[in-house]
Amino acid sequence: MIMNRKIEHLTLCTVEDVESGEAGFDDVHFVHNALPEVSKSTLDTTATFLGNRFSSPVFIAGMTGGHPDTTRVNASLAEAAERLRIGIGIGSQRAAIENPKLIESFSVVRERAPHAFVVANIGALQVKEYELDVVDRLIEMVDANALAIHLNFLQEAIQPEGNTNAEGCLEAIESISKSVRIPIIAKETGAGISREVAERLKKAGVSAIDVGGAGGTSWAKVEAYRAGNDPMLERLGTLYEGWGIPTVVSLLEASVLPLIATGGVRNGLQVAKSIALGASLCGIGLPLLKSALNGSAHVIGEISAIVEELKVAMFLTGCKTLGDLTSKPLIITGETAQMLKLRGFNLINLQERR
Ligand SMILES: Cc1cc2nc3c(=O)[nH]c(=O)nc-3n(C[C@H](O)[C@H](O)[C@H](O)COP(=O)(O)O)c2cc1C
Repeated sequence: MIMNRKIEHLTLCTVEDVESGEAGFDDVHFVHNALPEVSKSTLDTTATFLGNRFSSPVFIAGMTGGHPDTTRVNASLAEAAERLRIGIGIGSQRAAIENPKLIESFSVVRERAPHAFVVANIGALQVKEYELDVVDRLIEMVDANALAIHLNFLQEAIQPEGNTNAEGCLEAIESISKSVRIPIIAKETGAGISREVAERLKKAGVSAIDVGGAGGTSWAKVEAYRAGNDPMLERLGTLYEGWGIPTVVSLLEASVLPLIATGGVRNGLQVAKSIALGASLCGIGLPLLKSALNGSAHVIGEISAIVEELKVAMFLTGCKTLGDLTSKPLIITGETAQMLKLRGFNLINLQERR
């Protein structure tokens, strides 16, 4: 059943419009620097996250595996990660725990990306059920450098086979954080993470947060398409397709730990804005999935274009490094400004609050 769901999700995401809402990037403005005094040809896009260095902050968001047909997709993504010296996540490995024949659809990532920073993936709901040795198997499957524990309760609430008993997840995350030998990344999948939740995750021993904010791929929307002839689920999916904390707002909310900005990141200017807002890496999902269907050269082409776009933002703001972006003034307007003000952020001294 999980195997079929995985391929249904992948197909729907590539053929239907599954994005919803605004991530907030249009409300974030850099101040143009007419005298940047830097040379674009020597800009340094090196990023660091959890003690690892990457050629750029672009991170391939965890998406797939779990069906034999996904092996080639993960292979393309992994080849791109290896070539570009960037990090890569994989989709939930639950399917491979339940059916070892599916291990290859995940392990191909480590085979094709022997030197990359690979992030294993499992849901908080599974962590609650699994013994430590099962979690160790997930890590070994891809020789992972970190483990993402995903939080996807919006999806669970709309999915026909969804599990909506969220009790005990934080305790399970805390227990795993103490027991495993690699860092834990708490990862939302499109509804964002608030300050309050980020603080609880930090206390539980999590090392980083992938904000997975609203404004990109909407799992409520995906599940509404999947609902088929269940009018109630379709109704729920449609009502909640834009639910969540926009990525930009979540980056400021969750700034108590190192951050990955995921959710609606679509170009290098948005990557630059994410870094300026405090992210260490920027996860990109849907666009790279679509590129991967055409092979690794397309993934490499798309990421290279995004890095080129990032460099222009760095140049025009006079930043030699990604670190320089974090000290540049930002102007926040529109609905994002209103939300942040109502959440207690001082938009004039934003740098001090992140
Ligand atoms: C087809 C597909 C499958 C995904 N599967 C997973 C998953 O198994 N585990 C997970 O943590 N996130 C999963 N995600 C969520 C992504 O990691 C990411 O958070 C989300 O797509 C938002 O980024 P985007 O707007 O760039 O697509 C999936 C995304 C897509 C498009």
